[in-house]
Formats: sequence, C-alpha cells, structure tokens
Amino acid sequence: MNVLLTGGAGYIGTHTCVELINAGHTAVIADNFSNSSPKAVERVEKITNTKIPVYNIDVCDRESVEKLFSENKIDAVIHFAGLKAVGESCEIPLAYYRNNLDSTLTLLEVMKNHGVHNFVFSSSATVYGIPEKVPLVETMPTGCTNPYGWTKLMNEQILTDAAKADSRLSVVLLRYFNPIGAHESGMIGENPNGIPNNLMPYITQVAAGRLECLGVFGNDYPTHDGTGVRDYIHVVDLAKGHVKAIDYADSHKGTEIFNLGTGTGYSVLDIVNAFMKANDLEIPYKIKQRRPGDIAECYADPTKAKEILGWQAEKTLEDMCRDSWNWQSKNINGYE
Ligand code: NAD
Ligand code: UFG
Repeated sequence: MNVLLTGGAGYIGTHTCVELINAGHTAVIADNFSNSSPKAVERVEKITNTKIPVYNIDVCDRESVEKLFSENKIDAVIHFAGLKAVGESCEIPLAYYRNNLDSTLTLLEVMKNHGVHNFVFSSSATVYGIPEKVPLVETMPTGCTNPYGWTKLMNEQILTDAAKADSRLSVVLLRYFNPIGAHESGMIGENPNGIPNNLMPYITQVAAGRLECLGVFGNDYPTHDGTGVRDYIHVVDLAKGHVKAIDYADSHKGTEIFNLGTGTGYSVLDIVNAFMKANDLEIPYKIKQRRPGDIAECYADPTKAKEILGWQAEKTLEDMCRDSWNWQSKNINGYE
C-alpha cells in the first residue's frame, strides 16, 4: 500500500516509516516540522535506501492536503501529526484543540473526496484517565485529566462516528503506552525540544552530560518501590504494530481499538537501574515531590492486539535502554 504518514518526521512516524518500507509498502510524509527536523526524514531515506516524497504542510490546511492527495494515490493514512505535551496543553488548550481536531477533520474530508477509506490514529493510554485497576483493557472506562488527553478522546469519538456513518471507512485506534528506545542503527530517535518532560530522554541527557541529575517524581506511590509504574514499549515494536494495523484496516470495516503495550509495568527506579546496567553508566538521581497529574500505575493488557492483529512486543527492557543510549550518544544534540 501507499501510506500517508502525517507527522511522519516525528519520533514514532520515522520509525514506522522504516518498518512500513521494510514490509514492502511505500510512504508519503506530510509534516510541518513544528516538532521535528527534515534531517530525520533524510536519515530514514538512508536506512531504507528509498526516496520518500515529503510535503512540508500543515495538515489542517485543506488546500495543501487536497494537493497532496491529487498528486499521490494514497491507500491508507496513519495520522501521527499532533501536539503532544500534557503541560503545554493546559497552558494553550485552544491551540491543542485546533491542531489536533482540525487535522483529523480535514483528513477525513479530503480522504472522502479521494475515495481513501483506511485510517489509523495515534491515540494514547492517557484516555484511560485515572485507572480504577490495571492492566488496562480496551473496554474499560475512559476520561481525561488534561486538554491533550481530551483531544485524543475526542478524535476517537469523531473517527468512530465517521466510520458509523460511512460503511466504507475502516478506522483503527491505537492506544500507545510509553514508547522509548530507538532504531538499532542509532540514526533516528526521540529528539525533544528543550528540557525533556519524559523519563527516558531525561535519563539519556543526564548520561550525555547535558543535564546534571534526574529528579524522580515521588517514592510514596503504592507500587513495589514507591515510584511510578508504566508500560514502556520499544518504538520499533510500536512501529511494527502500525504495519499490522494498516493490513487490518484494509481488510475490515468499522472501528477497532487496540492497546499497544507490552503488558509489563516497570517503576522509575527499575528503568534507572536497567539503564545503568545495560550501558555501564551511572545516573545520579534525587527523589523529588510527586509531579501533579501523575498516576501510580499504568500498564496494558495487550491480549486483543495479539489475538486480532497478530502483534506483540518482542524487545526487552535491556534493548530499550541500550538503543535509547545508542541514539543519544551518537547524536548528543539530536539532529542539530
Ligand atoms: P512528535 O512530536 O515527534 O511527532 C509529531 C509530528 O507531527 C512532528 O513531526 C510535528 O512536526 C508534526 N505535526 C504536528 N502538528 C502538525 C500539523 N498540524 N501538520 C503537520 N505536521 C504536524 O511526536 P511522536 O512522539 O512521534 O507522537 C506521534 C503521535 O503519537 C502524536 O499524535 C502523539 O500525541 C501520539 N502519542 C505519542 C506518545 C509518546 O509518548 N511519544 C504517546 C501516546 C501517543
Ligand atoms: N518521571 C520522573 N522524572 C522525570 C520524568 C518522569 O520521575 O524527569 C516519572 C513520572 O513521574 C512517571 C514516569 O517517570 O512515573 C513516566 O513519566 P513520563 O513523563 O515519561 O510518561 P507519562 O506516563 O507521564 O506520560 C506519557 C506521555 C503522555 C501520555 C501518557 C499516557 O508523555 O503524553 O504517557 O500515555 F499521555
């Protein structure tokens, strides 16, 4: 299939682009580079030895999206493009709603005009809100605690309604848990702007000497060592889940939701210790106050993706820690 990847220059988009091409598909990227670099796409071209058409456009801009669809025969869309910082979404909620909702509406309208019916959406485990219990199953109640999360849940609703009204449409909603790691070449990886909010990029920047010390946000949670537990998944495993998802969309109609996680929860200190062991490095850390809005535990029940998509995560925590550092150490300042 010829797959349009919106946000294809970003962290998950670049890794998915590699796996799609490895699986024999072709890709077109649409990205406005608001949180990424054209160099990331050049690296994907090097890894795959393939030239990829890239459109530097805002996917909320209908005219530009129309032009892309007129110039390329698209079979499926994977919609990664979006703003994703939880804290920032509380400061500028309207920008989040505008960007994250308008992009989906524009894509759905243009896809309809061009007879394209396969849509895979990047949702998030954040839609489970404050979980009553873990592991999380797709049928459990949803609810959000911040505007970013609401944009994910609203998009899920928009896409579900669109598929109900148009029997030709296939929608796959992928709820990602915590992607970390990088392609084994070390040529592409996560490249946050400014000081990272997320755990693994913070750790790798401490290891690289760009930051002094990791703050561990709370050690009084009801978990095995008191620190927060998450379901960390290697980004290459996550990327492979998208290849399964477009195949599924192409052969099924309607909407289906899948958790993409490993099913195993690790605490902050588990991650710090695994990183130090895998890379033979010291990571200085200090226990700090809990971060407002954080939950104690969040991990997936990945059974549905295994049974229906035939997908499961294969890489280990050691792989994730080694590949995160391989990327960071080879690219101390990211793509700059
Ligand atoms: P990213 O910021 O690296 O990639 C997103 C890309 O979209 C960037 O390249 C950015 O420039 C582009 N973009 C944003 N708005 C755009 C617009 N209007 N038009 C064109 N391009 C636009 O983020 P990522 O980590 O690769 O995440 C991809 C998707 O997965 C996002 O929707 C994110 O919300 C979702 N997600 C990410 C995580 C995570 O932890 N990384 C977890 C759950 C869900
Ligand atoms: N943490 C620290 N120190 C840090 C950063 C994080 O101790 O410097 C802790 C957090 O308190 C949490 C764990 O590490 O216990 C993971 O935190 P992340 O910020 O890496 O990830 P979150 O689970 O908080 O959030 C991620 C995405 C969100 C998404 C959410 C649910 O960043 O966008 O998963 O899918 F909404």
